[in-house]
Amino acid sequence: MFALFSRKKKNKIIDLEFDESLGIPRHIAIIMDGNGRWAQKRKLPRIAGHKEGMNTVKKITKAASKLGVKVLTLYAFSTENWRRPDSEVNFLMKLPVDFFDSFVPDLVKENVQVNVMGYIEDLPKHTKNAVLRAIEQTKDNTGMILNFAFNYGSRAEILTATQKIAKQVVKGELDADAITEETLSDALMTGTFEKDLRDPEILIRSSGEERISNFLLWQIAYSELYFTDELWPDFNEYSLKQAIISYQKRARRFGGV
Ligand code: IPE
Ligand code: IPE
Ligand code: MG
Repeated sequence: MFALFSRKKKNKIIDLEFDESLGIPRHIAIIMDGNGRWAQKRKLPRIAGHKEGMNTVKKITKAASKLGVKVLTLYAFSTENWRRPDSEVNFLMKLPVDFFDSFVPDLVKENVQVNVMGYIEDLPKHTKNAVLRAIEQTKDNTGMILNFAFNYGSRAEILTATQKIAKQVVKGELDADAITEETLSDALMTGTFEKDLRDPEILIRSSGEERISNFLLWQIAYSELYFTDELWPDFNEYSLKQAIISYQKRARRFGGV
């Protein structure tokens, strides 16, 4: 009873303050953290937290799309997450199958386009197929890009990009002195997006951890960082709006005055 009351009250306050005319970030990136702890608090297995976290992804996707966000990048599985117990990894590799099976019709209705950045070729076949199918099924949508970082690691991404550029130099297609920031930005996995959509304006991390965990190291050079103690399964539309309100209040100087 009490929790319900305070939540309602909280929602009211946020709706009152929220002003879309102050600007909605075009690209929002989220490190979805805290699924395991959410489950632990309820004496449930960690995978129960991942299942609940999947529902949060659905809610936040719809909310962001309605707000007019252009790219929503969600960190779903890192190149380091293979270190987890096999049973948990197996569950996480099955999640995209269930997620897309149940959610693609909604994505089509919302005009949302799925993109996956990461080392897809190293995923189990069923995971890879689910991901490729979702990309195919939503490829004609023209609204928000729902960009999953899956088997993604930023250092690996930068290394792959560097190798790609080095090969062009060796072949004589590119002069080493002609390599610019744009050359690297083009070669990264976000290089498939329009130039002004590649770097997130805001990076959100749930669960109270205040670190980047190998996510978008190049792209967040000037992103606003927002940390919340909420665990990912508890994160909701109001949490998202709260993050955006915080973003709207900040003065982004990019080194200027
Ligand atoms: C984030 O939640 C989801 C993934 C990394 C796949 P965690 O599983 O990291 O949850 P905690 O941090 O252990 O609570
Ligand atoms: C980062 O969370 C990766 C994802 C959210 C997919 P982790 O839970 O893996 O990060 P660390 O281990 O706390 O740094
Ligand atoms: Mg974690």
